[in-house]
Amino acid sequence: MMGLKLYFALVFLCSLLFGPVIAEDGKVHIVYMGSLSHNNREDLVTSHLEVLSSVLESPRHAKQSLVRSYTYAFNGFAAVLSKEQATTLVGKPGVLSVFPDTVLNLHTTHSWDYLEKDLSMPGFSYRKPKSSGTDIILGFLDTGIWPEAASFSDKGMGPVPSRWKGACVKGENFNVSNCNRKIIGARYYSGGEDDDLKKNSKPKSIWPESRTARDYQGHGTYTAATAAGSFVDNANYNGLANGTARGGSASSSTRIAMYRVCGLDYGCPGVQILAAFDDAVKDGVDIVSISIGVRSSNQADFVKDAIAIGAFHATQKGILVVSSAGNEGPDSQTVVNAAPWIFTVGATSIDREFLSNVVLGNGKIIKGKGITMSNLSHSAVHPLVYAGSIPDKSSYPVAASNCLLDSLDASKAKGNVVVCIANDTAASRYIMKLAVQDAGGIGMVVVEDIQIFEAFDYGTFPATAVSKTSATEIFSYIKSNRNPVATITLTEVVTNYIPAPVIASFSSRGPGGLTQNILKPDISAPGVNIIAAWNPPNQSDEDTVVSEMTPSTFNMMSGTSVAVPHVTGAAAFVKSINPTWSSSAIRSALMTTAIVRNNMGKLLTNESDIPGTPFDFGAGVVNPIGALQPGLVYETSIDDYFHFLCNYGLDSENIKIIAANESYKCPSGVNADLISNMNYPSIAISKLGIKNGSTTISRSVTNFVPEQAPTYKVTIDAPPGLNVKVSPEILHFSKTSKKLSFNVVFTPTNVATKGYAFGTLVWSDGKHNVRSPFAVNMV
Ligand SMILES: *[C@@H]1O[C@H](CO)[C@@H](O)[C@H](O)[C@H]1NC(C)=O
Ligand SMILES: *[C@@H]1O[C@H](CO)[C@@H](O)[C@H](O)[C@H]1NC(C)=O
Ligand SMILES: *[C@@H]1O[C@H](CO)[C@@H](O)[C@H](O)[C@H]1NC(C)=O
Ligand SMILES: *[C@@H]1O[C@H](CO)[C@@H](O)[C@H](O)[C@H]1NC(C)=O
Ligand SMILES: *[C@@H]1O[C@H](CO)[C@@H](O)[C@H](O)[C@H]1NC(C)=O
Ligand SMILES: *[C@@H]1O[C@H](CO)[C@@H](O)[C@H](O)[C@H]1NC(C)=O
Ligand SMILES: *[C@@H]1O[C@H](CO)[C@@H](O)[C@H](O)[C@H]1NC(C)=O
Ligand SMILES: *[C@@H]1O[C@H](CO)[C@@H](O)[C@H](O)[C@H]1NC(C)=O
Repeated sequence: MMGLKLYFALVFLCSLLFGPVIAEDGKVHIVYMGSLSHNNREDLVTSHLEVLSSVLESPRHAKQSLVRSYTYAFNGFAAVLSKEQATTLVGKPGVLSVFPDTVLNLHTTHSWDYLEKDLSMPGFSYRKPKSSGTDIILGFLDTGIWPEAASFSDKGMGPVPSRWKGACVKGENFNVSNCNRKIIGARYYSGGEDDDLKKNSKPKSIWPESRTARDYQGHGTYTAATAAGSFVDNANYNGLANGTARGGSASSSTRIAMYRVCGLDYGCPGVQILAAFDDAVKDGVDIVSISIGVRSSNQADFVKDAIAIGAFHATQKGILVVSSAGNEGPDSQTVVNAAPWIFTVGATSIDREFLSNVVLGNGKIIKGKGITMSNLSHSAVHPLVYAGSIPDKSSYPVAASNCLLDSLDASKAKGNVVVCIANDTAASRYIMKLAVQDAGGIGMVVVEDIQIFEAFDYGTFPATAVSKTSATEIFSYIKSNRNPVATITLTEVVTNYIPAPVIASFSSRGPGGLTQNILKPDISAPGVNIIAAWNPPNQSDEDTVVSEMTPSTFNMMSGTSVAVPHVTGAAAFVKSINPTWSSSAIRSALMTTAIVRNNMGKLLTNESDIPGTPFDFGAGVVNPIGALQPGLVYETSIDDYFHFLCNYGLDSENIKIIAANESYKCPSGVNADLISNMNYPSIAISKLGIKNGSTTISRSVTNFVPEQAPTYKVTIDAPPGLNVKVSPEILHFSKTSKKLSFNVVFTPTNVATKGYAFGTLVWSDGKHNVRSPFAVNMV
């Protein structure tokens, strides 16, 4: 926020010098004007100034209020406007929407902030890099990059592809020489520093802190390394989980372009996100990876959401946009970035766990999760006490049971291993640890109300987390002993952990808030306790040395933020082998081949051991090798997305602007229910009358094994209460019929119950299984 204040101070100063320029309640707004009808940047900037002048006092004022023009991927601009000016602009010709700039957030879990460190991904096997793959350029909209990280070595890489039109922009502590054959682009946005505008007016610096593509947060370094990092041996997290770190894609042919759109002080402004999309399209990236989003309660319409707008126009240019579902699970309807042109990713665990067990005085070992360099002696000799039974005089037992700050009676906690219950969302692990330490406790056992697969890092403090079920053993031991004792063991890394993968509790769930006729999230990928490159800790900053351990250039992190680059890497891998595939074909291939069973052969479960649904994991967990041979593909065209917008409720006039097509007309009979008919790799129906309803939806599939003439048969796995019929049930492909259509009729039966029911539809030729999940809400 600092930067913004400074900016307004400057604006105010300017107004003193030049008279009233910008309304006092001025705020940065985004003015969205749809597709570009031409690419002449100068003319476009002039037209933006004209539009602005019509609501400001003069062209000079317009120039001063203009923050940035978008002219490569789409038409629009950002400007400082009062509420009234913004409202007046809405009716102007060509203006589709005007909305205040929103600050978006990184989709990491927030529990540990700084201490949430990240790691690599053993147990999640991609094929070894293939040097013969085609070059793929990945664009990351993130916190910047730490170019010196070993993961960004360009050893053995060929020259930068000649089609690349991007730039390595010099910034503070970032030279052009910091780019190489791996990091081929780096840009940052600090406000209106738009080359063309600079000629005309003084550059405005809205975010002065961000005059560099260098990453001072770690998140961008981490996501780029996870998707496209080179092989790095001896990667570990403070000595744990030692192994080889690598990006998910065929790393010797994958290039990174970093667009820094987030700052430490101010989050990720929509103005910068749109600027980055605009540049990424011009620069020539193939895939955009963006692990950022709004809170689900703040979701705006598709024409007022920076990521949805940017992603739409990137998709129009053939770019695949991969983004995070959010970290607001397990509540339903929390998924964000859910536009049908965005590939929306949820998070799962992998088969690796960090275990630190609790050993009770009676010899029982209780499995615990957490990272601790515990120095407690290995025998169970340390007094054990339940926090709820030792509240401070000024506190409540329920605060004490949650180990809130100042809630514990220090005279009774001192020297004890304290058992806390984590059922108050106000208490993060960090706070609980501080509370126990402050009260003189020598260790902590956290009882998890809901099981969380993330292993928290407690540094050298002996601490771990146990499940509610296993905690009953601890409590009955405490109750039945006068002097209960215990110890916490040193962290041990366990691989081949079962069950895995498990849907992460934090991963946001469907159905989507804006339309329930598209199934979201689309897919899942590893997003729990993953290790990858990080910026080196700032030694002069106290916060970063809390863990008191050797600083690591690798970090461990959890979140749908972490899952996204796994899918980006997988998509890059598929595209490097099949460079001609469209972005929707790659999405379809990854979805229809995704894995829905865990390493015990059972349907994927959530952290309460309950089988999940497509609202938890989408089509399943990404399987890059399988996606190389999808058999059939559901292709979605940009016209399908225009049609979607018609059915969603936008009128033809709006879509004319979005499409920059004066003759565009929405088809007759638009209707929100028809959204289900979009040629998507999954199926969702938001309302199906339980008494007498019946819905027919259509799809078409394209044969991606063109030299053959396969015959596919359908298999349906329908839930009780729902009759699902596909016609035809057999599809004969040939040289001349590569694309075939079919219908699916959904009819509730007399045992139908209200609510969502799930199932799958699989086309198989004996070699390929093309699987689509469906979700039907019976009302
Ligand atoms: C950038 O280049 C200058 C001059 O060569 C050098 O002094 C400086 O250390 C470089 N900075 C980085 C971050 O590499
Ligand atoms: C990690 O493994 C490598 C090779 O197996 C070994 O040389 C190195 O010492 C290990 N590092 C740690 C911190 O365990
Ligand atoms: C464990 O480590 C802490 C902090 O490093 C130290 O204060 C304490 O004395 C140590 N305890 C034992 C039993 O060594
Ligand atoms: C948290 O746990 C304590 C102790 O079991 C209980 O008294 C309290 O009601 C619980 N609170 C919530 C919000 O579940
Ligand atoms: C490191 O931290 C110190 C103290 O918080 C701060 O003044 C300095 O700017 C930081 N350096 C970097 C490179 O972030
Ligand atoms: C698991 O799913 C069940 C059923 O939908 C739900 O009640 C429970 O809260 C979920 N648990 C977690 C941790 O996601
Ligand atoms: C414009 O829209 C019309 C009607 O929907 C369509 O037939 C035409 O192909 C579109 N033109 C372009 C250039 O997309
Ligand atoms: C379904 O039943 C309702 C009343 O139960 C009736 O109003 C409606 O017209 C029926 N719809 C169809 C398509 O039969």
